[in-house]
Amino acid sequence: MRISYRMIQKARLINPLLPYMLPQCRNLQDAKQELIWLEKHFKNQNIQLAKAVIERFKGKPLQYILKNQPFGEDLTINCRPNVLIPRWETDEFCHFINTKIFQNYQSQDINKKINIVDLCSGSGCISLSIKESNTMFNVFGVDISDSCINLANENKKINSLEDVEFIKGDILNPDLKLLNKLIASSAEKKIDMIISNPPYILHSFLPYLNTSVKKYEPSLALFGNLEFYENFVKIWSKYCDSFFYELGEIEQFEYINSNLDPKVWAVLKWSDSNDKIRGVYGYRKHSQIAKMFDTCK
Ligand SMILES: C[S@@+](CC[C@H](N)C(=O)[O-])C[C@H]1O[C@@H](n2cnc3c(N)ncnc32)[C@H](O)[C@@H]1O
Repeated sequence: MRISYRMIQKARLINPLLPYMLPQCRNLQDAKQELIWLEKHFKNQNIQLAKAVIERFKGKPLQYILKNQPFGEDLTINCRPNVLIPRWETDEFCHFINTKIFQNYQSQDINKKINIVDLCSGSGCISLSIKESNTMFNVFGVDISDSCINLANENKKINSLEDVEFIKGDILNPDLKLLNKLIASSAEKKIDMIISNPPYILHSFLPYLNTSVKKYEPSLALFGNLEFYENFVKIWSKYCDSFFYELGEIEQFEYINSNLDPKVWAVLKWSDSNDKIRGVYGYRKHSQIAKMFDTCK
């Protein structure tokens, strides 16, 4: 959508920097809000503020300029190029897991320590949000990228969270050492829940992606088709009692739904607050952890 001359004029009258925020923000209200955040961040630093506005004009994501993003109940997630910026829909599904599934941990009298594995952990936002709400749980995050592991450890530190371990590994080809480490803390040698926001944007979608995402965010974090869902069915489902995977395409839900044995697994869809299907989750019907899903059926 092109921006009207009238909107640019209106913005200039409010603040001479405001028109430069419009190409990324697309409307006056969002542009004003972003400028307020930048002004707050660069208080009394007019040259840095002007530079930041120009960077934003050229498409740099706000989180890479401000260097962080709020997430979960009260987390600050540091953000850097080479690591995906946490998205609102991921925050929403973490809230769903924390409030609709894990809240039943106490009431259902599940007498064991839960272990959670966050595959494709990136900045660590999912692992840290689970840990923030469930301090008793053991949480591991796994990612293939050194930049992600370093940033996730930094985020763990700045949020003063302990007992969360970030491990470098290729989840499409997990070695025995990694698998053994992830199941070692559980008496049943099982992961209670695997949570993942894998790369799921189809390559054919590339021309339609926002230029700022294409230019600044790592393609390793973005593009995938069915491979991470096939990998879950073929490998990771054998090691876990429940799972939650974020997704972008209904085919990714259908792949999991039609390839897990319905006698063993219950599989459900999760929709975000815009009613868009954004996740697939499920549990082994005869596992102890199945009780936690009672309020989701
Ligand atoms: C969509 S991002 C999710 C990051 C983070 N969990 C979040 O929600 O913001 C996907 C992540 O998968 C990682 N990744 C891609 N291929 C991988 C692989 N084969 N094994 C492990 N991690 C992988 C990327 O480095 C990236 O951090």
